Amino acid sequence: MTDNNSPPGSPKVNPDHNSEANPLPKDDSSLENIVRRFQDSMSLAKKHKFWETQPVGQFKDAGDTSLPEGPIEPPTPLSEVKQEPYNLPSPYEWTTCDMDSEETCNEVYNLLKNNYVEDDENMFRFNYSKEFLRWALRPPGYYKSWHIGVRAKTSKKLVAFITGVPARIRVRDEVVKMAEINFLCVHKKLRSKRLAPVMIKEVTRRVHLENIWQAAYTAGVVLPTPITTCQYWHRSLNPKKLIDVGFSRLGPRMTMSRTIKLYKLPDQPATPGFRKMELRDVPAVTWLLRNYLSQFVVSPDFDENDVEHWLLPTEDVVDSYLVESPKTHDITDFCSFYTLPSSILGNQNYSILKAAYSYYNVSTKTPLLQLMNDALIVAKKKDFDVFNALDVMHNESFLKELKFGPGDGQLHYYLYNYRIRNALRTSELGLVLL
Ligand SMILES: CC(C)(COP(=O)(O)OP(=O)(O)OC[C@H]1O[C@@H](n2cnc3c(N)ncnc32)[C@H](O)[C@@H]1OP(=O)(O)O)[C@@H](O)C(=O)NCCC(=O)NCCS
Repeated sequence: MTDNNSPPGSPKVNPDHNSEANPLPKDDSSLENIVRRFQDSMSLAKKHKFWETQPVGQFKDAGDTSLPEGPIEPPTPLSEVKQEPYNLPSPYEWTTCDMDSEETCNEVYNLLKNNYVEDDENMFRFNYSKEFLRWALRPPGYYKSWHIGVRAKTSKKLVAFITGVPARIRVRDEVVKMAEINFLCVHKKLRSKRLAPVMIKEVTRRVHLENIWQAAYTAGVVLPTPITTCQYWHRSLNPKKLIDVGFSRLGPRMTMSRTIKLYKLPDQPATPGFRKMELRDVPAVTWLLRNYLSQFVVSPDFDENDVEHWLLPTEDVVDSYLVESPKTHDITDFCSFYTLPSSILGNQNYSILKAAYSYYNVSTKTPLLQLMNDALIVAKKKDFDVFNALDVMHNESFLKELKFGPGDGQLHYYLYNYRIRNALRTSELGLVLL
């Protein structure tokens, strides 16, 4: 694995959408490569002053199958959990961000809009909407105390943020209460001052106070130690705009009009009974999804409340469609995607890239390929510019055929205080974090 600094969901697309044209990995068994990999792993092993102190899979233990799967450390008695917040450098103070407050939500939105994840070339930056943040941060049973901000004491300006939300995550046949950690962000002017470790420790402390001892998170950077490393794939819906803004490039021997034709989609979904999910579908969708997710090594353990929150369509946040059999009225298939625009940095003509991200998809009767083609069609009708998907679950079975191209960003998945003996294949992962 290379140390790739691409942010999660790096929107940069491989300019050549024909993945066959990508060079194959060079023979990596030469002495030179073995030595380099060894040196890389040695320097990695020394690199993580903070993460080395945490109960996470350590690089030095990689491949040691004698270590048991499961919690790395046992829970400590709640009375032994530190009662006061960690110390911040003196100009800063902790704040709990009340996402119900329009004003606070605006502050969080603006901090992230200006300082959150960018692609490697700093051309795009995630622009999570306020409605999206409210949705992502207030699932069933959420804790306000896990929405943590840092303010400058004098100006009260919000300068950093980190969040957790509760989730039940199944690992093999065990359902574990976890926190899903997300939206770690430090203002650009305060980087490299070791603020991030303090924020991670503080969110961990507040998670412990709720008697929860495990967490799941993703990052574009390599930390000790990914449970799997995924790749984003991108399906152009508006190729002209994507090329104009530098998200993708015209392929060799391609003209703009041939490219537009290549990505053209039908006007209407092909599957009879394909329709938007409604509130009355929650029980059927929950059943479908639970059955489907049970085949993966790691997945969320969704109940009806979770499905209502995470999958019932919410305008400009999450879209879900299903197939209702015209004959039996059974719900046989399901697909969903969430809305995450990126700001386009420094382009004269466009300021926003409208991206859909594949979420959870289940096929039992409709072939997954056809179902996802219908998802592309409805996304295109909703004016998305690009449809992104990770190579998780069964996604690999449709990516190439539906003209997705591999992106250059990697997304690493991690568990805190839970050891998995061997890294998973991406197709063994049934979890999508926002
Ligand atoms: C990620 C971010 C908060 C890190 O802050 P920073 O000022 O660069 O780094 P700090 O000096 O505070 O801390 C460095 C430590 O944090 C760790 N770290 C950096 N990014 C991390 C991440 N995404 N998740 C967990 N730990 C991370 C580093 O590995 C390092 O610990 P180590 O010495 O054990 O390796 C900051 O760069 C940022 O806001 N970036 C843009 C948004 C972003 O990428 N967020 C993360 C999304 S997953």
